Amino acid sequence: SYLSNSKDPVSRIMFCLLFFVLTAHIAYGEVSYSVPEEMKRGSVIGNIAKDLGLDVNRLSSRKARIDTEGNRKRYCDINLNTGELIVAERIDREEISGKKASCVIKNEFVLENPLELHHFILNIEDINDNSPQFKESVIKFEIRESAGKGSSYLLEDAYDADIGRNAVQSYTLQNNEHFILNVLTRANGRKYGQLVLNKELDREQQKEVTLILTAVDGGTPPRSGTVAIHVTVLDANDNAPVFSQTVYKVSLPENSPLDTVVVTVSATDADEGQNGEVTYAFGHLPQKVQQLFFINLVSGEIKLTGLIDYEIESTFELPIQAKDGQGLATSHCTVIIDVIDANDNTPIIVVSSLNSPVPENALPGTEVGIINVQDRDSDNNGQVRCSIQQNVPFKLVPSIKNYYSLVTTGELDRELLSDYNITITATDEGSPPLSSTKNIHLTVADVNDNPPVFQEQSYRAHVQENNKPGSSICSVSATDPDWRQNGTVVYSLLSSDVNGAPVSSFLSINGDTGVIHAVRSFDYEQLKSFKVLVLARDNGSPPLSSNVTVSVFITDENDNSPQILYPSPEGNSFMTEMVPKAAQARSLVSKVIAVDSDSGQNAWLSYHIIKATDPGLFTIGVHSGEIRTQRDISESDSMKQNLIVSVRDNGQPSLSATCALYLLISDNLAEVPELKDMSRDESSSKLTFYLIIALVSVSTFFLTFIIIILAIYIYIYIYSYSFFKDVSGGGLLEITAKSVSFY
Ligand SMILES: *[C@@H]1O[C@H](CO)[C@@H](O)[C@H](O)[C@H]1NC(C)=O
Ligand SMILES: *[C@@H]1O[C@H](CO)[C@@H](O)[C@H](O)[C@H]1NC(C)=O
Ligand SMILES: *[C@@H]1O[C@H](CO)[C@@H](O)[C@H](O)[C@H]1NC(C)=O
Repeated sequence: SYLSNSKDPVSRIMFCLLFFVLTAHIAYGEVSYSVPEEMKRGSVIGNIAKDLGLDVNRLSSRKARIDTEGNRKRYCDINLNTGELIVAERIDREEISGKKASCVIKNEFVLENPLELHHFILNIEDINDNSPQFKESVIKFEIRESAGKGSSYLLEDAYDADIGRNAVQSYTLQNNEHFILNVLTRANGRKYGQLVLNKELDREQQKEVTLILTAVDGGTPPRSGTVAIHVTVLDANDNAPVFSQTVYKVSLPENSPLDTVVVTVSATDADEGQNGEVTYAFGHLPQKVQQLFFINLVSGEIKLTGLIDYEIESTFELPIQAKDGQGLATSHCTVIIDVIDANDNTPIIVVSSLNSPVPENALPGTEVGIINVQDRDSDNNGQVRCSIQQNVPFKLVPSIKNYYSLVTTGELDRELLSDYNITITATDEGSPPLSSTKNIHLTVADVNDNPPVFQEQSYRAHVQENNKPGSSICSVSATDPDWRQNGTVVYSLLSSDVNGAPVSSFLSINGDTGVIHAVRSFDYEQLKSFKVLVLARDNGSPPLSSNVTVSVFITDENDNSPQILYPSPEGNSFMTEMVPKAAQARSLVSKVIAVDSDSGQNAWLSYHIIKATDPGLFTIGVHSGEIRTQRDISESDSMKQNLIVSVRDNGQPSLSATCALYLLISDNLAEVPELKDMSRDESSSKLTFYLIIALVSVSTFFLTFIIIILAIYIYIYIYSYSFFKDVSGGGLLEITAKSVSFY
């Protein structure tokens, strides 16, 4: 039935032919049947009765049966009605003959009556009822990531209980980027796989690779079995440390304290274990930079170990190396440290030039000095503002960068302030700001700008008349605040006329001291006052001067005695006053009139009667000089009355003059001639006597003098004549004339 199952007519014919040959052969030997395994029970294998040419109807009577050799399982049975062999038991080829190429079950067909024994065999054909199988569910590999391309790894075979084509025919590997599968065949024909590395592994990318390997058999339909391949990638030191940044930029304030953490560099190494342990170190550093920084070998922390001065170095570039465990792989990064400036430098003030002393007449705006300020800090910390204290006539004018001109803002006056203490303050703009000060000492040079000034607006000098020539009468003084000769004062008198005479004949002045002396003796009665101009001049060039008026007042001295105007002091014209006999008391009789050329007290006159014929009869007004009767005239009074009146001034000592008054108490003018006798006074006759003596002596002296002169003249005349007669004999007249002119 198996054969008849075949639908293809050609194959069927071919099979029939083969069958006859077989059958013919079997007639003398064995009959064989091919049966696929795992047929259902009852399935017809073949008609053995027919094949053996037996009568089907007699089968049951002949007790036809199938025996197995030994005590083996009976896989088939015979249908006694049809003579067909049918499947009696499940036939599992694999159970019966395993991997053997052929699976044959020997059976005996037994008939009795007569006993007949026929051998037949069942050729069990394999069907694909088993899938390839791997021994383990997971195949594990450990492959180092350094493994090169082409490295191969043997894979365990898959087992398929089926045989022949139904056994494992091929393997397939899940698509992946690293591995490919190489399928090979052993000598025994079994296929096996080889895992071949097609692209290097990278543990750092993928620690594990899991692949599915599929084994496929050749059955129809094919069956397959899978296994997981688990590849663990082992580390190789194939990674250098990698810095988190190639350049670390940090900023660091200058003067940061020691041990300040500047930055922590960090490198990671993708490798595992020792291969991934990173250590840090500086690359090549100059000696002085080395002293400033320290790097922690393990943590990569960079600390400060020295003082950072922005003014010395404003940036640092530190090359850093990282090495992994074996020290084979290194990598580099750079730490760039920008030092942030701190305001740690005070400004420095330098006086570049100074024109001291400055002349006091320097115009406002004159440059007297140049100031330079320096601050080593940068930016705002180095921006310096300069100022000057308020109360000086100077200011700072910014000039070219960092330079200032010190200029005057007002007039200078050496006489007010001869030196200045200028304080310059420089402040930078840091926070907090730093500042410094500088004192400049500036002196002001003198210019002759002050004329001498007299201490008084005008001077008055009082001089007593009759002073001694050369006596000092007053002194003037002028001051000049200028320096040295510009302030040295010399005095002089300005020439002018006083009463028609040059002033120098009156006064002189000491040029140095200003003391004024009288040159002559003054006479108040001639000159009461006068004015002179005194000039004070300094020694500057050009000199300055000023003048002052000195008024000289001559004061009076009592050097003039009173002068009696009436009665006339002339002795020869004695005046006689008539007094009426009937004159009563207090009647005015006469008046003495006197003047005094002095002035003031010296001219204040008082009148006194110093001698009188009858002292009780007349009185004189002390100041008026009026002579009055003191009582009524009586008959008994003498007719002639004489009065001697003294006129006295009030000077110290006082001077006086006297006069005589003749009074005639009478009512009749005829009695007057008698007066001539009266005038013959004893004192006046004495005076006349003295006058005569004086006249005689003067005349005698004069006569004597003339005689002596004449005698000398004659003597010289005679002497000259005899001398010239010897020498020239002529010219006498000329010589005489000379001699005369000599005399
Ligand atoms: C200038 O002033 C400063 C401070 O005010 C002072 O110390 C110094 O002595 C003064 N110098 C003179 C010459 O006055
Ligand atoms: C006096 O003043 C003049 C300018 O008028 C000046 O040149 C001179 O130096 C001054 N003398 C002194 C001693 O200061
Ligand atoms: C005296 O000084 C006045 C001003 O004070 C001046 O006008 C006058 O010219 C001066 N006189 C002389 C002679 O210098």
